[in-house]
Amino acid sequence: MSRYAYVNGRFVRHGQAAVHIEDRGYQLADGVYEVWAVFDGKLADADGHFTRLWRSLDELRIAHPMGRAALTLVLGEAIRRNKVREGLVYLQVSRGVARRDHAFPDPPVPPAVVITAKSVDRAAAEAKAAKGAGVVTVPETRWSRCDIKSIGLLPNALAKQAARERGAVEAWFVDELGLVTEGASSNAWIVDADGVLRTRDTQANILRGVTRTTLMQVIGEAGLPVSERPFTVAEAKAAKEAFITGAGSLVLPIVSVDGAPVGDGVPGPRATRLRRLYIEKARATAI
Ligand code: PDD
Repeated sequence: MSRYAYVNGRFVRHGQAAVHIEDRGYQLADGVYEVWAVFDGKLADADGHFTRLWRSLDELRIAHPMGRAALTLVLGEAIRRNKVREGLVYLQVSRGVARRDHAFPDPPVPPAVVITAKSVDRAAAEAKAAKGAGVVTVPETRWSRCDIKSIGLLPNALAKQAARERGAVEAWFVDELGLVTEGASSNAWIVDADGVLRTRDTQANILRGVTRTTLMQVIGEAGLPVSERPFTVAEAKAAKEAFITGAGSLVLPIVSVDGAPVGDGVPGPRATRLRRLYIEKARATAI
């Protein structure tokens, strides 16, 4: 199937899609991104991702490339042209193209926009979730603005590779106090020894996950106890259950931490239920 990418105002064949060598995203990682899950050809958690995108851009003083209505249309077109029913859409906005200089271009240049969309095999993803996945832990080495969804992902890429080399799907960053911050591309959760759902508070240096926010609503509706408090690696290993959340993983049960089984070493009932409830809600509210 031919794939198409949106690059600075037009759709081009994916294989031919290219940005300028002096795009500041390419040279300086001077840009931000968003990822939406796609259900039934529609954007999941649309508002949350738009709101975070505008915030990431504002924090870095990058101009909004277009308004929300126009962006919704272009994202929809990317989904349609790539015939995605179930999948992911990726958006990247850089500060634009300018002769290399660390300081911002003066006068400013228009931000550069790239959008891609790809299909995901939901049946295969469900089979993976039913088996559960492992995480490994790595030292937190990132900057102090992880609340911004920046394309500067080198520590995340190294952490994810370390996970892969150790047979795991995700890496959890651990801060100098021994507390888990978040995953390389997801938020981290446990069901602690008291049966309370735990995830780190968003005042900490983590990304405010949109999936995390929607799952908090789901948890509230289900009446489950939850606490926004960090946990140690030892607490995770002693937890009843663990899972991660993100637009890519949705809600994915974690069955081992650094090779040690979590609970019975199989996906827990709460993680499994929350995955189902999250997907139901995200599908029902997708636009
Ligand atoms: N990652 N933390 C980090 C560091 C992330 O990169 C992500 C998402 C999350 C979860 O955020 P959300 O629920 O809004 O997807 C938390 C995306 C999916 C990625 O990098 O592909």
